[in-house]
Amino acid sequence: MAGRLEGKIAHITGGGSGLGDAMAHLFAQEGARVAVSDLKLEVAQSVADSVVAAGGDAIALAGDVSKRDDCERMIADTISKLGGIDVLVNSAGVTPRYAPKEWDFEKTWDWVVSVNLKGTMMMSRFAVDHMKTQNSGSIVNMASIIGLVGYAQGISDGFNPYPHTKGGVVQMTRDMSIALAKQGIRVNSLCPGFTYTPLVSTLVEDADMHERLKSLHPMGRLGEPKEIANAALFLASDEASFITGVNLPVDGGYTAQ
Ligand SMILES: NC(=O)c1ccc[n+]([C@@H]2O[C@H](COP(=O)([O-])OP(=O)(O)OC[C@H]3O[C@@H](n4cnc5c(N)ncnc54)[C@H](O)[C@@H]3O)[C@@H](O)[C@H]2O)c1
Repeated sequence: MAGRLEGKIAHITGGGSGLGDAMAHLFAQEGARVAVSDLKLEVAQSVADSVVAAGGDAIALAGDVSKRDDCERMIADTISKLGGIDVLVNSAGVTPRYAPKEWDFEKTWDWVVSVNLKGTMMMSRFAVDHMKTQNSGSIVNMASIIGLVGYAQGISDGFNPYPHTKGGVVQMTRDMSIALAKQGIRVNSLCPGFTYTPLVSTLVEDADMHERLKSLHPMGRLGEPKEIANAALFLASDEASFITGVNLPVDGGYTAQ
């Protein structure tokens, strides 16, 4: 049976960890040829190697999505090495929890905005230049439940750049989807609930916080990366051919409350 992404070429930013890693494996299992990109080549390479070891087709690329030249080069390398780009998943993302301690609020805010928001815009921009030439393409952004609703009380001081950027990705998704609809390019986002990846490991290591986070999801648990990857696969594939501009919660009921 043909895979759900048979013949497609997919680029996954932040592919070296967490959700990106899970999507790289699933997309390759479903027949896509995958460009796994991340800040460090060795991180992207280890996921690409593991995809290849499992029988898939993947290459590794390195670059910083907050840098314009890196974005342009990573998309150009995907096209030259794999022969095109049909799917872009913008999964590279950071949280202020991992900002260097010596940074003040402004430097931290600028960093998170430049990766989560500007990076998503720039990677999409260069991918769209190519997708327009073929009149088809699918972009899947990683927004968040925290792009749809605010943090529960006591988690943010209101100046946390993470929800600010994820709200921006939600709106960017809508705006791009309308502008690109007639060119056959679909733009959607996923809004995951808290999911077990290195991004949330410091929260989960705190037993009280872990219990609180679980209780905030009506299903009483956090998500698994594969559960997010399954939804990304659907949006990336032709099964979602009439779906664009959607910000889809994958959140165990979090945003239904
Ligand atoms: N895990 C969750 O609970 C959760 C929930 C909602 C949304 N998200 C979003 O999903 C995406 C993936 O998150 P994750 O949980 O897999 O995190 P993760 O930390 O496991 O992976 C993120 C990857 O992005 C890479 N990255 C960071 N800055 C980069 C840059 N400037 N250029 C290129 N790559 C860069 C990191 O090196 C890392 O490999 C993020 O956008 C995150 O905000 C995660």
